[in-house]
Amino acid sequence: AAAQAKLRRFPLKLVKGVPLMEPIADGWDIVENFQAFPDDLIISTYPKAGTTWVQEIVDLIYNDGDAVKCQRAPTFVRIPFLEIISPPPLPSGVEMLGKMPRPRIIKTHLPFHLVPRSIWENKCKVIYVARNAKDNTVSYYHFDRMNKTQPDPGTWDQYITKFIKGEVAWGPWSDHVKGYWAEKNNHQILYLFYEDLKENPRQQTVKILDFLERVLPKDIIDKIVELTSFSSMKNNPMTNYTFFPKNLFDHSVSPFMRKGEVGDWQNHFSEQQRQLFDRAYARWMDGVDIPFRDLL
Ligand code: A3P
Repeated sequence: AAAQAKLRRFPLKLVKGVPLMEPIADGWDIVENFQAFPDDLIISTYPKAGTTWVQEIVDLIYNDGDAVKCQRAPTFVRIPFLEIISPPPLPSGVEMLGKMPRPRIIKTHLPFHLVPRSIWENKCKVIYVARNAKDNTVSYYHFDRMNKTQPDPGTWDQYITKFIKGEVAWGPWSDHVKGYWAEKNNHQILYLFYEDLKENPRQQTVKILDFLERVLPKDIIDKIVELTSFSSMKNNPMTNYTFFPKNLFDHSVSPFMRKGEVGDWQNHFSEQQRQLFDRAYARWMDGVDIPFRDLL
């Protein structure tokens, strides 16, 4: 209860120019000095780009599509969140990883330049997932309403401005997607898109399998695709975050498994908001060739 009392909407604090939740910034040296193993697999995303989805696909691949094994624990226990630091006695991501058997799967939202050096020194494989900016904004807004450890998002209109300025946890969307894109050929980085996963989950799952240098029978791949559909994951207590402490995630405000669609931004942006956002987007993407689907 004492720890629960200390959990609150943490302010953001800069780490090398990137706003992170205060406990992470205050414990940054623990994250920075994280020791990787060469067989660690990193799943990296800007928040709300499809992290949990790809975590489930990968865990099922590692367990040969065994649904029961993948229900052994909630996502956040099976695949620890590298940089998370909460007030004691909650374990930090680094602490949890220290107790994990290898090969480990690790989640991070860190932008490229904040990823602990040991990960690159050990040539770890990284799966990066990017989501189109407007849907990512919508998803993050609803998440910040229900996640009681991140700053209050304010109104949707206020949130758009904050998002454009990058004044949200883990910083600007644009720096994040561009940072990994620029480095993807210098490291073992598989760069995926949420929209591709929605359009052809099987093809993208096979792409992940190839990247991991693994082979699975056709029927197991089909099963993995089925088990990682939005409806399967929404109804799976081990993937839908209902096991997460209730004082941290309030699903009655907005469920973690909210909508899972491409183009929901059209239900949120007014014409004026869209124009404001598109002007910022044009600046971010000037001279950048990341193949985001240009949605309308
Ligand atoms: P929405 O808020 O648009 O519904 P993350 O895991 O990075 O936090 O991302 C969460 C977003 O991915 C949410 O988006 C969530 O609904 C969506 N999502 C989670 N699992 C999904 C799945 N299997 N298929 C499609 N979308 C999924």
